[in-house]
Amino acid sequence: MKITIHTQKPKNKLGDLFGIFFEDINHAADGGLYGQLLQNGAFEFSPLDNAQYRALTAWEKIEEAGEVEWSVACHDPVSRANPHYLSVAVVKQGRRTGVRNLGFQGGIPLTGGSEYNFSCYARTCKPGSNVRVVLTDGKGKELCSGTIFPGEKWGVHTLTLTPAWTEYGARLELLLQQQAELDFISLFPRETFLGRERGMRRDIARMLAALTPKFMRFPGGCLVHDGSLQTGERDSLYRWKNTVGDVTARAARRNNWNYNQTLGLGYYEYFQFCEDIGAKALPVLPAGHNPHAGRQSTPMAEMQPWIDDALDLIEFAKGDAQSTWGSLRARMGHPAPFVLEYLGIGNEEVSPEFFRRYRVMHQAIRAVYPEIKLINSAGPFCAGEAYRLGWASARENGSDLIDEHYYQAPDWFIENHDRYADFTEQTKVFVGEYAAKSNTWYSALAEAVFMIGLEKSAHAVGLACYAPLLCNANYVNWQPDLIWFDNHRVYGTANYYVQKLFMNHQGAYSLPCTPALLLQKQPAEIQTGNSFSGELCLAGNKSRVAFTHIFLENLETGEVLHLPDGYAEIDGQYKLSKIDWHRFSLKCTARQFGPGWGFELLFGMQDQENHYGISLGGWENQDAFFTGKKNGLVTTYTQKSFHVQSEKLYELELQVLGEHIAVLVDGKTLLTGSKEVRAVESMYYTASKDGNGDIIVKLANVLETSQEVNLVLEGVSKATGTAYVMEGFDPTAQNSFEAPEKVIPTGFPVKTENGVLCTMLAPLSLQVIRLTPVVE
Ligand code: AHR
Repeated sequence: MKITIHTQKPKNKLGDLFGIFFEDINHAADGGLYGQLLQNGAFEFSPLDNAQYRALTAWEKIEEAGEVEWSVACHDPVSRANPHYLSVAVVKQGRRTGVRNLGFQGGIPLTGGSEYNFSCYARTCKPGSNVRVVLTDGKGKELCSGTIFPGEKWGVHTLTLTPAWTEYGARLELLLQQQAELDFISLFPRETFLGRERGMRRDIARMLAALTPKFMRFPGGCLVHDGSLQTGERDSLYRWKNTVGDVTARAARRNNWNYNQTLGLGYYEYFQFCEDIGAKALPVLPAGHNPHAGRQSTPMAEMQPWIDDALDLIEFAKGDAQSTWGSLRARMGHPAPFVLEYLGIGNEEVSPEFFRRYRVMHQAIRAVYPEIKLINSAGPFCAGEAYRLGWASARENGSDLIDEHYYQAPDWFIENHDRYADFTEQTKVFVGEYAAKSNTWYSALAEAVFMIGLEKSAHAVGLACYAPLLCNANYVNWQPDLIWFDNHRVYGTANYYVQKLFMNHQGAYSLPCTPALLLQKQPAEIQTGNSFSGELCLAGNKSRVAFTHIFLENLETGEVLHLPDGYAEIDGQYKLSKIDWHRFSLKCTARQFGPGWGFELLFGMQDQENHYGISLGGWENQDAFFTGKKNGLVTTYTQKSFHVQSEKLYELELQVLGEHIAVLVDGKTLLTGSKEVRAVESMYYTASKDGNGDIIVKLANVLETSQEVNLVLEGVSKATGTAYVMEGFDPTAQNSFEAPEKVIPTGFPVKTENGVLCTMLAPLSLQVIRLTPVVE
């Protein structure tokens, strides 16, 4: 096949299209990107963060032939924000007495011969006594040590420690003979990313820098909006002012992913990191609204503190060094302004309560900083009520961008590669979170197809970033993730290498191609439209449910089956019947007993991993969904708000009409949708031109057959360059700690012959080709 690239006809600016999204999920910050090696060094862990946590979590007593008493005190602390500290006394002297920190799961990773910066606050009521600071292996063998001499008053003590050999499961021991009080105990490698003090873990940061992202979204995710509305509370929504200034004054918080967040990686470190990797900052602020269970909103008359937070954050980032917040930035070490062009308000909030609050924040920020691009929220669904509300608010307010999120099965990304092709909205799309639900090559390839579509639709799409970014393999909250690590290793997934290719080779503007698309014939499945045949099943969603008056009607033949009443225990299923009907209706009454997330009607069921479903109650009993599950990966087609009342009797009807479905509750239509089966195209491709004149072509082949492509570079007779090729992988292939480079691109030199580059795309493959025109 032949594709002509119109190299002299710039189409759309690609701007900051591809970036990254950082959220402290899966221990992405503490125990991850943030270089701190000790866990709970400030004794602030609490059962409020995680039921298993105590103030002495990650600490052990050392009582070798001696005895130690310890407690966590808070009288006259170093910092009122983090008031707890360790009080330790030796009550029976022995060989080794004191305490040890275990680091994050697996211990402290140390490299022999490298330097580590230890620091702590300490005081003692036995002046003259000392504390030995020792790094040991997992069995207590000393790798190196130093000594600090606390006084009667709190003081900071520092040491440089150089372990004699490499250990990945090391411990930090504080050995004493008398008594001491200790707080903010800290250990950082000296070799952090770019050598910054208390900086980022180098290997992970380098992986992020290597992506060359145009922007970095921060700090979440649900982390932004999950929690209490009171800024001083431990589980408050993420308030940026609690994350800046001296680290001792940043009150530890409950991270909604079920752990403790020290905030050592706060807003200042974030802005600095963005600058260090050449990415624009894209902060997301809460809007005084928590959409999670127990929904809460700040009264409209009390929104000023939330507005001030936004205005002050902008001043912190880019105000002059004499301004109130700019001067704090300067005192923290950065007198020059940081770059700030984007600001998100809210994450996935889509209720009227949120949009009322969005509006006042939007207007207040616009009035003072008209140049800041403001981002609204379209929620986590690709269609439906919440999505429409988000877009209505974006239009009404004139939001610059709107944040759309998709966690869908790979085929959805392929079918939706041209989702934005015909968009004519003023507000641009920010695909702020997306992932094709696994770290396999097939998912990565599906994401590549989607990204090709985003690049082609740059008139409508402004920004896009994969999510989540980081995962500590010992603390998995969510998967898939782009980069996996443990305490000393890191690897990029297949998805990472796709992102890297797209970011390293984005281009400054897109170029038109002819033909615009290479279409192939519609698959048979679409022609028959019979994709919903299979087993029918009724179930509860985390709930106990009963179904009665169950009738199944073939809407083509009029045949009616009356099925016996059924009951499903929590997560159980009540199987009905297997059908091969094209148009049918399933009616029943349903009741939920006690708490839960309502009912599920499963249909077109081939097995547990492959079926369609209607969920009434959905997420946290707040939604109704129409979903499809393929090979265990779920796609949500549409959504509507819906809450199931416990003990109430509902009359339900599911109508399946070819590819379309409708759900009626108590006789009223609640949800309609259709299963889009879209033709797979022969080839997905896009072209762009870089600022230096390079021409970049991206080609993806999702077919099981090879395809030859002749790329005609209009107006360029000769060009040479590199083709970065991802091919020959099993669709299920994944990278791992053991095989971190199983799925990676390989670069080959290429050149045009008579203005044409001929390339062969292997089955299920991706090519990113960068060509430099040769001036003759
Ligand atoms: O990326 C993981 C989570 O998915 C985010 O916190 C949230 O925004 C989304 O639902």
